Amino acid sequence: MIVGTQPVTVRAAAKVNLHLGVGAPRDDGFHPLTTVYQAVGLCDDVTAHHDDELSVELGGTDWIDLASVAADEDNLAHRAAVLLGRHHGRDLAARLVVEKAIPVAGGLAGGSADAAAALVALDRLHDLRTSDDDLLRLAAELGSDVPFSLIGGTALGTGRGEIVEPVADVGTWWWVIVPDRDGLSTPEVYRHFDRLFPDADPTPPSAEALLSALRTGQPVSLARSLHNDLQEPAIDLRPDLGRLIDHGESEGALRGLVSGSGPTVVFLCESADHSRDLAGALMRSGSPVVLVANGAVAGAHVVPDHV
Ligand code: C5P
Repeated sequence: MIVGTQPVTVRAAAKVNLHLGVGAPRDDGFHPLTTVYQAVGLCDDVTAHHDDELSVELGGTDWIDLASVAADEDNLAHRAAVLLGRHHGRDLAARLVVEKAIPVAGGLAGGSADAAAALVALDRLHDLRTSDDDLLRLAAELGSDVPFSLIGGTALGTGRGEIVEPVADVGTWWWVIVPDRDGLSTPEVYRHFDRLFPDADPTPPSAEALLSALRTGQPVSLARSLHNDLQEPAIDLRPDLGRLIDHGESEGALRGLVSGSGPTVVFLCESADHSRDLAGALMRSGSPVVLVANGAVAGAHVVPDHV
């Protein structure tokens, strides 16, 4: 093996917002957030191959709507490569192969995962040795959720979500994830939040209750504290999501919740067995794609000996 010519594969996870407190929009149009992210075991892989120019190739599992992902310079992995290159004062060439399992426009930060994975993969491929602080800063330029995709685990997000700090999380949490064929636009859901809540407080609701529940390790406590200020606007735009949450809860979920800006709905379960039972029930009642994942899992990391 010739060191330095091998491709590098980096895996990055989907996120669920356990708490998403949203404040009135700032002057720059972004909404101040107090959020608690959790990385869950549903991942995209980005493999960076040496090449003479920069390109992106997309692949994915059968529930991924690849047609709605940009494969050109608007692709977040491509933008990550350009930004990292600019930071190092050079053009970064590579063939980036993005293998998606995280639903597109689903409220699970799939695009952010790809951007974070591309940053790490290119850093390793070209041996750039970018500092963690610089990677986090570049990630924040790419999108509000990208710094979290780098660090993973369970973390408090403030600012517009880009300022992240790990928090204590003693539990293993089991989720049933129900993606939706039709994505929801994040800006549209935020705009709808503004319409529904024109008098929103500039300070987003605190995450204290959720953080305490995390420290108990008890799913029932966590279930009680889950909170998403974008759920009401998402359900107002897509009433079927509310019906899905009610149905999952009637089938025994501890709690159902819209993930981020939706339309993915996630259900917190008691245990691995409980999540498998609930997934089976939801599939039998007609949800075409139902996934089971646990959290918290790691942020963007190199997959060893990937072939
Ligand atoms: O940061 P990111 O590019 O992921 O944000 C996408 C869009 O979501 C923004 O252009 C904005 O409309 C909305 N957004 C927001 N407040 C945030 C994060 C995102 O209004 N804190």
